[in-house]
Amino acid sequence: MIDGFGRSIDYLRISVTDRCNLRCVYCMPPEGVEWMDHEEMLSYEEIIRLCSLFAQVGIRKVRLTGGEPLARRDLPELVRGIHAIDGIESIALTTNGLLLQEQLPALLEAGLTAVNLSLDTLDRAQYAAITRRDALDQALSGLYAALDAPGLRVKLNCVPMGENDAQLVPLADLAREHDLAVRYIELMPIGLGGSLPRRTEEEVRAMLEAAFGPMTPCDESLGAGPGHYFTIPGFRGKIGFISAMTHQFCDGCNRVRLTATGFLKTCLQYETGRDLRTLLRDGSGDEVLLEAIRSAILHKPAQHHFLDATGRREDERHNMHQIGG
Ligand code: GTP
Ligand code: 5AD
Ligand code: SF4
Repeated sequence: MIDGFGRSIDYLRISVTDRCNLRCVYCMPPEGVEWMDHEEMLSYEEIIRLCSLFAQVGIRKVRLTGGEPLARRDLPELVRGIHAIDGIESIALTTNGLLLQEQLPALLEAGLTAVNLSLDTLDRAQYAAITRRDALDQALSGLYAALDAPGLRVKLNCVPMGENDAQLVPLADLAREHDLAVRYIELMPIGLGGSLPRRTEEEVRAMLEAAFGPMTPCDESLGAGPGHYFTIPGFRGKIGFISAMTHQFCDGCNRVRLTATGFLKTCLQYETGRDLRTLLRDGSGDEVLLEAIRSAILHKPAQHHFLDATGRREDERHNMHQIGG
């Protein structure tokens, strides 16, 4: 459906849990957080019912996020249920990869079409420092399992924070041999992300071009997200950037989010949207839910204000594990 600013909304990001098996410095405090109760989260039946209604208003792509989505039991069952909905053309997953190797066969069989894997460094000690878990080997097994899966589209997400400067080139180098998009995400002032140093797209590009030579912008859009891409001669894969801070992309925004508690969040930064869980659990019929969804999408905000024209910053107080990215 078309929102109040003429944007076509066809992409739904569903956070299935706020739980995670890592504690990334930009996402969670070292002591962890108090997880939500299981009853607060939408059940798979509730999510699937909502997805069929979202498909009726024009959602074609679904992405499952968390926290860590694979930390929720039986995720392949949810993928299977969403895959069966008329109108849903692709189901993607954003994961830290730790549980991916063991779950990938069932996910693929259930209809998963793409995986984005978060990996900020290839150095074991640095991985343990950034994620506060010594789990690089598990993440890499997940990455290689995904790369080996025929037909699965794979992207890698890296957040450059200064600390991992020396790893940005080795990470890009993975796209030399593999059909993989290695993407650099400008850290956004969301929760703890607001208090850490960040690198801009220009800074990262300069580091990569110093190592590999000039990169060429790529017309092909990969997936339906806000990333833009470059090619490097001799590389099988692509290099991408998601630069919400220096190249705001809200004009072309095509997405809304459903939180694990069933709130339809219409912008990454703002609390605008609609509590669908209450409607679901009140016994509302499909027409009432559809009307709530349509009206929330119609009022989707024009843009985020992480930086305004004067450079003043407005932060989002929630952490990313509560939003799903
Ligand atoms: P593709 O469809 O594969 O391109 O995925 P994606 O980039 O939409 O999803 P992913 O979960 O991998 O997110 C990568 C980064 O993009 C995360 O840091 C997200 O927070 C960020 N991101 C995704 N959607 C938006 C958005 O609408 N606005 C902003 N500012 N950032 C977003
Ligand atoms: N800014 C940008 N990206 C972030 N991520 C987590 N927190 C932030 C932030 N503040 C990334 C993770 C993951 C993706 C879903 O979001 O690294 O790859
Ligand atoms: Fe977990 Fe993702 Fe947050 Fe890292 S960024 S702690 S992987 S939810």
